[in-house]
Amino acid sequence: MESSVPLYSSSYLLLLLLPSLSLLLPPPQATASPLSEATALLHWKSTLQDPSRALRSWAALHNSTTTSPCSWLGITCTSSRITKLSLPRAGLVGTLDALDFSALPSLAVLNLRRNFLAGAIPAAVANLSGLVSLDLSHNRLSGGLPASLATLSLLVKLDLSANELTGKIIPALFANWTRLTYLQLQQNQLTGNIPTEIRHLSNLRILRLFDNQLRGSIPRELGDLRSLVQLDLNSNNLTGSIPRSLGNLTRLAILRLSYNQISGNLPHELGNLSNLGVLSLFTNQLSGPIPHEIGGLQSLELLGLSQNRLTGPIPPSIGNLSQLFILYVNQNQISGGLPPELGKLANLENVHFAYNLLTGSIPSSLGNLTQLNHLYLLFNQLTVSKS
Ligand SMILES: *[C@@H]1O[C@H](CO)[C@@H](O)[C@H](O)[C@H]1NC(C)=O
Ligand SMILES: *[C@@H]1O[C@H](CO)[C@@H](O)[C@H](O)[C@H]1NC(C)=O
Ligand SMILES: *[C@@H]1O[C@H](CO)[C@@H](O)[C@H](O)[C@H]1NC(C)=O
Ligand SMILES: *[C@@H]1O[C@H](CO)[C@@H](O)[C@H](O)[C@H]1NC(C)=O
Ligand SMILES: *[C@@H]1O[C@H](CO)[C@@H](O)[C@H](O)[C@H]1NC(C)=O
Ligand SMILES: *[C@@H]1O[C@H](CO)[C@@H](O)[C@H](O)[C@H]1NC(C)=O
Ligand SMILES: *[C@@H]1O[C@H](CO)[C@@H](O)[C@H](O)[C@H]1NC(C)=O
Ligand SMILES: *[C@@H]1O[C@H](CO)[C@@H](O)[C@H](O)[C@H]1NC(C)=O
Repeated sequence: MESSVPLYSSSYLLLLLLPSLSLLLPPPQATASPLSEATALLHWKSTLQDPSRALRSWAALHNSTTTSPCSWLGITCTSSRITKLSLPRAGLVGTLDALDFSALPSLAVLNLRRNFLAGAIPAAVANLSGLVSLDLSHNRLSGGLPASLATLSLLVKLDLSANELTGKIIPALFANWTRLTYLQLQQNQLTGNIPTEIRHLSNLRILRLFDNQLRGSIPRELGDLRSLVQLDLNSNNLTGSIPRSLGNLTRLAILRLSYNQISGNLPHELGNLSNLGVLSLFTNQLSGPIPHEIGGLQSLELLGLSQNRLTGPIPPSIGNLSQLFILYVNQNQISGGLPPELGKLANLENVHFAYNLLTGSIPSSLGNLTQLNHLYLLFNQLTVSKS
């Protein structure tokens, strides 16, 4: 009976001492303890400005009641290891330089979007070898995409959009990202070509590279990414023609190639994109006719072809696009008459044909378009029939 008392109290004492004791010890072997995870985060916190005191709960571990950072704001643990660090819109000002990524070996999700983080993306971010999702978008990060990111082979989502990133997208980045489904690098200042090695991203569903300074042609290899649902390359400096292979992306819902210097004809194969809702090709140097096959885009809601050099007539097959509500073809060299089939497009709201070479009369079927808000036909040679 008596012997159990000292036994109990000594183990109680040990429990109390344990956290502070392990602070003094070197980190155990290769794996970090929860305590070194906490220490790494507290060190990073000490380098940040936190005007809204988002990290208030990130406090030093004084006693046994707070042995773990798992209750801190933005931290999620699994089996008392930090697996998720998520602090979007927390008002954090600083850099990532002082964050010891190697102290967070279990981290799967790192989300610091919409803070005020500046400086480079440290190469050491690759120490997060279990990372599944990395979102550093909408910060002020600068410098290049570290080549070390290529080793993060478990990544499913990578969003570095809306920063100040520069330099090229190096081909080696794409070597190991076989699970990647979201790649968002838009709204940066990336230069160079889109590497053909992008074909390795066989699970990619969302590819958004708009608002950069990418050059060269659209790689034909994009046609290999059969899971693609969104492809947005707007506002770059892309040249060359639209690869015919894009017609193989039958799951595509959004295709945006506007505001580039893309030339050549519209490939007939695009007519195979039966799930396409948005086809945005504004402000390029596309020439030749609008292919008859456009009638195959039976899900299309927005067709934007304005400010190109398209010639020939509007194909009557356009009457197939029963979901269409925005049709912009202004500022081309489209000739011939307005096809009466336009009257079949019951959802049409905005139609812009100004600055073309259209002739003939305005078909009376357009009177069937009850949803029509805007119909711009200025600067053509159309006549109004008085029937
Ligand atoms: C343990 O630390 C927390 C916060 O640091 C404090 O609020 C609490 O009073 C401490 N408990 C003991 C027993 O010292
Ligand atoms: C962490 O990253 C740095 C820079 O990439 C590297 O030198 C170091 O070996 C990495 N440490 C671990 C534990 O992976
Ligand atoms: C791809 O991953 C393997 C294994 O992690 C690594 O050895 C290789 O260097 C990676 N490739 C690139 C280009 O980083
Ligand atoms: C494209 O390149 C031209 C010159 O080559 C440059 O003047 C222009 O600003 C570039 N546009 C973009 C969006 O980078
Ligand atoms: C589309 O895919 C098929 C089957 O993989 C392939 O044979 C064909 O060459 C592709 N089309 C284009 C234009 O690349
Ligand atoms: C795609 O379109 C082209 C040209 O319009 C056609 O020859 C081809 O058979 C189509 N491919 C598929 C898979 O439907
Ligand atoms: C128009 O749609 C019908 C079916 O709705 C289809 O059979 C036909 O091929 C389409 N026309 C064009 C030019 O794609
Ligand atoms: C317009 O609607 C009338 C009936 O409301 C119909 O007879 C006519 O065929 C329609 N025209 C077109 C081109 O769809």
